[in-house]
Amino acid sequence: RRSNAHRIAVIAGDGIGKEVVPEGLRILETVASRFDCAFEFDHFDFASCDYYQQHGTMMPADWKARIGGHDAIFFGAVGWPETVPDHVSLWGSLIQFRREFDQYVNLRPVRLMPGVPSPLANRKPGEIDFYVVRENTEGEYSSIGGKIFPDTEREVVMQETVMTRVGVDRVLRYAFDLAQRREKKHLTSATKSNGISITMPYWDERVEAMAKAYPDIRWDKYHIDILTAHFVQHPDWFDVVVASNLFGDILSDLGPACTGTIGIAPAGNINPERRFPSLFEPVHGSAPDIAGQHIANPVGQIWSAALMLDHLGETTAAEAVVRAIEEVLARPEYRTRDLGGNANTAQCGKAIVDALTG
Ligand code: NAI
Ligand code: MG
Repeated sequence: RRSNAHRIAVIAGDGIGKEVVPEGLRILETVASRFDCAFEFDHFDFASCDYYQQHGTMMPADWKARIGGHDAIFFGAVGWPETVPDHVSLWGSLIQFRREFDQYVNLRPVRLMPGVPSPLANRKPGEIDFYVVRENTEGEYSSIGGKIFPDTEREVVMQETVMTRVGVDRVLRYAFDLAQRREKKHLTSATKSNGISITMPYWDERVEAMAKAYPDIRWDKYHIDILTAHFVQHPDWFDVVVASNLFGDILSDLGPACTGTIGIAPAGNINPERRFPSLFEPVHGSAPDIAGQHIANPVGQIWSAALMLDHLGETTAAEAVVRAIEEVLARPEYRTRDLGGNANTAQCGKAIVDALTG
């Protein structure tokens, strides 16, 4: 055990989470043997529907103390709607992590990989390579509002958008910092200031103010409606795209969808100040329809490991893992069924390990 080891809380969760997380760990163990870094893995059985069945809650009361001191959380997927309603399993676990650990950045790479057919015609790897940075704690997803006179003619329903200067500025700063580390140094902001006439002009105002601190970044903004069209028609225009909670939610599904299968997309829920652990997980859920068959694509989980390595400062290792993924996806014999191949979860995972050591 090394004193500088990264302490990782591992939560596999439900369904295929239990099948793909081991493949992610296999990669991290390979990374530890190949690069100058080390990990200490602590496994937790909570934040799963099995735990709920035994305990009547998704997590123990002291969950925050048990994982709050770790450097990162490596998460599979949660949800088993047959036994636990989705809003119970999700709000009792993932949403708690995001809120209580102030993971205010949701980061999703959008990258066309070799061997993965894009639904967009004639796009080649290299042409689509950007990040969506979504505000993850406020904005349109507030709990301020309510319903009065329910079930009457006078029924009124309201829900307020909440933007704070602290909340907007911190996610913008993260996005500009990210753009600064990228070759193109280009940032795009999603807005809708023509329709949403109070909060969105405010968002624009903060982008403009923040841009002054980053004179070397070229930046632009688009209304969300045309921006979704540009994602499809001109994905090569983008480098770092920053958006409020709702717009970011939409863009961060649309972006990866433009690059193929949900089985390979990763996500980071990040607390950039590192006051709390950040959480890395594949975009997909627990896939009850294929769970137990060992055919799930492990790439989303493995790419999430690469995002985690990057966050932990292990950038060389992170890049090597992404390259190993690219190398393996380019070869038909290691593709899983969702990519039209015949490989099972472990065969695909092992091939990536081999590419990393080879
Ligand atoms: P899902 O992502 O689990 O599955 C959607 C479709 O994609 C399914 O046909 C599935 O077989 C396929 N798929 C997903 N991941 C795959 C992979 N790695 N390899 C091959 N095929 C894959 O979404 P769904 O069905 O809407 O939700 C199922 C459960 O997962 C629900 O309980 C839901 O609440 C939960 N969920 C959890 C998330 C999380 O933990 N962050 C995110 C999304 C859903
Ligand atoms: Mg979503």
